Amino acid sequence: PDICFVASEIYPFSKTGGLADVLGVMPLTLHNMGYNVCVITPLYGRISTSAYSPRLVYEDLNVGYPWPGITTDVLQAEFRGMPVYFLDRGEYFDRRYYYCTYKGDYFDNCERFIFFCRAAMSLMKAFGKAPRIIHAHDWHAALVSPYLYYQRRTDPYWKNTRSVFTIHNLAFQGRFSVRLFWDCGLPYDAWSMDGVEFYDSFNLLKGGISYADRITTVSPSYAEEILTPEYGCGLESVLQKRSKDLVGILNGSDYDVWDPSKDRYLEAGYSSRDLYGKYLCKKELLETLCLPERLLSRPVLGFIGRFRSQKGIDLLIELMPDLVRQDVGIVVLGEGDAEYENELMNLVEAYPGHVAGIVGYTEEMAHKIQAGTDIFLMPSRYEPCGLTQMYSLRYGTPPVATAVGGLKDTIIPYPEENSTGFVFPEPTARSFWGAIQNALALYQDADAWKKMVVRGMHQDFSWSRSAREYARLYQELGDGTGEI
Ligand code: ADP
Ligand code: GLC
Repeated sequence: PDICFVASEIYPFSKTGGLADVLGVMPLTLHNMGYNVCVITPLYGRISTSAYSPRLVYEDLNVGYPWPGITTDVLQAEFRGMPVYFLDRGEYFDRRYYYCTYKGDYFDNCERFIFFCRAAMSLMKAFGKAPRIIHAHDWHAALVSPYLYYQRRTDPYWKNTRSVFTIHNLAFQGRFSVRLFWDCGLPYDAWSMDGVEFYDSFNLLKGGISYADRITTVSPSYAEEILTPEYGCGLESVLQKRSKDLVGILNGSDYDVWDPSKDRYLEAGYSSRDLYGKYLCKKELLETLCLPERLLSRPVLGFIGRFRSQKGIDLLIELMPDLVRQDVGIVVLGEGDAEYENELMNLVEAYPGHVAGIVGYTEEMAHKIQAGTDIFLMPSRYEPCGLTQMYSLRYGTPPVATAVGGLKDTIIPYPEENSTGFVFPEPTARSFWGAIQNALALYQDADAWKKMVVRGMHQDFSWSRSAREYARLYQELGDGTGEI
């Protein structure tokens, strides 16, 4: 393949969040545009590839120095016509959870993802023809960039290969002890301020930023924000140094998966021309969650996301008692910090007729909540892109969101003429409350509300536009012939 994506998640095989959604559609869009692409990813436990004609294409492929004798098997599956390579080494990946359990991160995460990147490089070498572009994502795949950088110096095989590194979330950096650096196979040279060293720790994400030929992130606003101390997570000066090679390309939405007119999880389909199905979805959601039918005529607010401070779930928890007093329904789906899970469960118990909470991860419920609620809440403290608000727009569920990152780039804020949702400036309960009140007030005006719903549903965040931007970037990095 000419373009190899290296990433730790790809929907529908593996998913903990938006990274998987992006990998499940972006490479495929480029594939459908005629590019020769593939994805390289780990074979975790419980992944089923059986529907995708998997075959063992390499057995005991050596991952090379510094671990002689360490090998990987490689399975290839066909995902909608595009090859996906699964690196199969049970001791590292045959686990139900990819990065951590409720007890915390796996102790061997550094070793696992060093292995992942080295094995990906070995596989691309085994292809016999080097890709033109290696596009790695987030800290798990970040070491691919320094590996390429150093191998290109000594091995002519990689002469024409360029690397792109995409930051989906700067807060997750993969920081480990210096001891682990000695095992990763990079030269001593890389242990520097311009390399992988970060306050005496081994920082994988920084390796991606320092050595990639181009760096991208997932929205234009986030690309600017991360250059500041407020959002830079300590890496702002590293990013500033590379700012001429950094660009923000807005993610898209996979409308084959997220479209209420053909969503297989829904009670009834609907579109902007006929919203009756949305009413039926709301009715079914209330029944499923044992919320009173009375709420059919009241606004129901939804939240879907990781229970982390990033997502501002604490702000919603704080406002819930006051919101319940306004006789609205609140439906929350997510999992994460135990403290928030417990607080949510307490609220569910305190307000059974108003609040429903599902602690866990279920794709089906995510779709049902997008369809069956009226207003989508996203009070994120920062948001590199955010996909759930794009889905909520398509599902006719106007978002109420903080004016940060990708949220700012995707929602046209009320009271602008063409508004599609509500944004508020500060991630505080007070500011969030004000925006929810604006949404509830507009909801009372059925006509105006419907217009906003329809405008949101007509927004087009399909991947073709974003994929063209990536294609342009790859061409720029090419050898000037305009060919990848
Ligand atoms: P992030 O990647 O930061 O978590 P995004 O908005 O980019 O946020 O993507 C989140 C993705 O994960 C969406 O597809 C959303 O539906 C899904 N998701 C998040 N939490 C859950 C959950 N508890 N159950 C099911 N899907 C979830
Ligand atoms: C990260 C970000 C999220 C983004 C997703 C996909 O998980 O937190 O904002 O949408 O990656 O790029």
